[in-house]
Order: sequence, then C-alpha cells, then structure tokens
Amino acid sequence: MSDIIKIKEEYLNKLKEISDLKEINQLKSELFGKSGKISNEFKKIGSINPEERKTISSQLNDAKNELHNLIEKKINDLEINEINLKLKNERVDVTLPERTFNRGKIHPVSQVIDEISSIFSEIGFSVEEGPDVENEYNNFTALNTPENHPARDMHDTFYLDKNKKFLLRTHTSPVQVRTMLNGKPPFKIIAPGRTYRSDSDQTHAPMFHQVEGLHVDKNINMGHLKGCLNYFIREFFEVDKIKMRFRPSHFPFTEPSAEVDIGYELKDGKIIIGEGNKWLEILGCGMVHPNVLKNVKVNPSKYQGYAFGIGIDRLAMLKYGINDLRAFFESDYRWLSHFGFDPLDVPSSYRGLSR
Ligand code: DAH
Repeated sequence: MSDIIKIKEEYLNKLKEISDLKEINQLKSELFGKSGKISNEFKKIGSINPEERKTISSQLNDAKNELHNLIEKKINDLEINEINLKLKNERVDVTLPERTFNRGKIHPVSQVIDEISSIFSEIGFSVEEGPDVENEYNNFTALNTPENHPARDMHDTFYLDKNKKFLLRTHTSPVQVRTMLNGKPPFKIIAPGRTYRSDSDQTHAPMFHQVEGLHVDKNINMGHLKGCLNYFIREFFEVDKIKMRFRPSHFPFTEPSAEVDIGYELKDGKIIIGEGNKWLEILGCGMVHPNVLKNVKVNPSKYQGYAFGIGIDRLAMLKYGINDLRAFFESDYRWLSHFGFDPLDVPSSYRGLSR
C-alpha cells in the first residue's frame, strides 16, 4: 500500500472517532500544517520519476480533497452542535417569577435641596458648590472675620491642623468668596451643601446643611433682598401669603445684617406656616459688607449686593413635620422609608413640571 493510501486510511479512521473541535483542529494541522503529512507528500512529488508522477499526484490530490472536505464538514457540524447546545442551556424561562427589589428613597435633605434649587433657579440664580474642607481665609478672613474676631468663637470650628489653616467649613458663606474670586460681577448664585460645627443636641448636629445666597450687581438694595426671600418662602411652603419680619442682627460679612422670622401657628400640634402670631427664626441675611467685596476684588462703589444663609435641615423639619434633627443622619432604613421621598414623586414646588 502506498504511503498516501496509508495516511488516508489512518486519518479517515481517526476522524470517525473525534467529536471535539480542539482535537479536529489539531488533526487538521497534523495533515495540512507546514510539515503536515499531506504537505510533506506534496514536497516529495518533484523527486518521483515521471512515469509514476502523474498517478501519484492525482492520488495525492484525491486524498487531500477527501480528507479536507471531511474535516471541514466535521468542523461545521461540531460548531452548529455547540451553538444549539448553548441555545438550549441558556434559554430564558419567561415564566419564572420576578426577583423582588426594593426601591430606594430620597433623603428629605436631598429632596429639600432639589426644591430650593428649583425655586431659586426660577428667578435666575445658578447653583454653585464648594469643598467641605476649607481654608481659614475663605471661611473667616475674607468674610471680614479676622483673627481674634469674637464671631469666630461662635462657630465651634473643627480645625484640621495645628496651625488652624484648614478646617471643615462652618458655613456655606466661603462659596461666596470662591465664586467672586473666580469670576466677574454680576453674581447671582445659591450654594447648598454640608457644614460642620462641634455641636450636638435635639436641634443641632455636628454636620448640618445650609444654603447660601448671593446677588451682587449695580443698584441692588434691601428691597431686592426682601422680595427675593418673600418669594422663596411662599414657594417653599406652598402658601400664598406669608408673615415675615426682619430683625436687626450682626454678621461680620453683612452691613446692615438681619435675621428673618416667619409667622406660624400651632394647630393640633402641627406647625402651620403663614398664619398666627408666633415667630420662628429661619435665616440670616444682609447687604454684603464692602470689606468682603474689596477682599474678592469687586469695587464696592460700583457694586452692591445682598446675601443670605438658610439652615436646610430646619426647613425640611418644618415642611415635613420631622422633630428630631439627629435622626436625619443616623441612616436608619425605617426612618428613611417613612420620611424619604419616592424618586418619581414630583412636589408642587417643582414649578413648570407640575403646574
Ligand atoms: N453664615 C451665617 C451662619 O452660618 C449665615 C449667614 C448670615 C449667611 C448672613 C449670609 C448672611 O450670607 O448674609 O450663621
């Protein structure tokens, strides 16, 4: 038997036994690879005497074609099998019951920040942010509160280094400084965010939230401040009329300064905003002190402005009837699922969307 016939018989037998793609590819290269058995037979053809050459080469070509076709067919079959097997095993059973899932809730503070941002954006304020870790200059000095100023003591500051150069910001007012240093007037911004003071009881937490407001332009006066706050409070508490009073106060960064109280009434243990004879303090404000403007390179003889700082947690407590501030930050899931908001709920204070 010639070598060619032997190779053919041997590999036809091997082929019958193989049912694995890897093995068949291996077998393919044993025959047709660079020094494969069939390839080697082709190389020998040149040295065969001319009488035999024709018969042998046609024998070799036949063997090559037969083996080649069989191998390709087998590879094809095996690949189809593999796909079918996958389809069968990975079939999706659409009749299975769905997986249970819990929908998260929006924290009241996040909700109130969204409401505040949306209300102020209606009258042209944009939202700015600043870092929780501030330097002493932005938090105090630039805001007209130099070293040894008594107002620094009121803030119970968390300092981060021995030299008292870095601290956790005690209010959102440093965002005023950052915004004005980074831009040119006019400015019309609010800056909501976290603030920190070493203080803790039923109405104070060491971490709390404020929103700062700043409007600087030519010819801004206290009437603008009053109008702006009146609008905000009515929108936020969703009432048409509000009782509001400005009480003289002191902040180093404003002159004159005021604290704002709103009128309320207690009905069946509930606080009703806008009615009644009781007063509740909700924010501090004033006209930006000329020294602050000078510190941030704004000319106080050309520009004036008002600023305000509101406690966000307090607003959330008032609007949504929550009476212990500490629960806000305990991450108790039961509390959150009671006081939290459905992500798909749209409160009416999102004007435009719901009205
Ligand atoms: N930063 C003040 C505080 O934390 C609040 C405040 C008062 C901010 C008056 C202002 C302002 O911008 O004008 O107590």
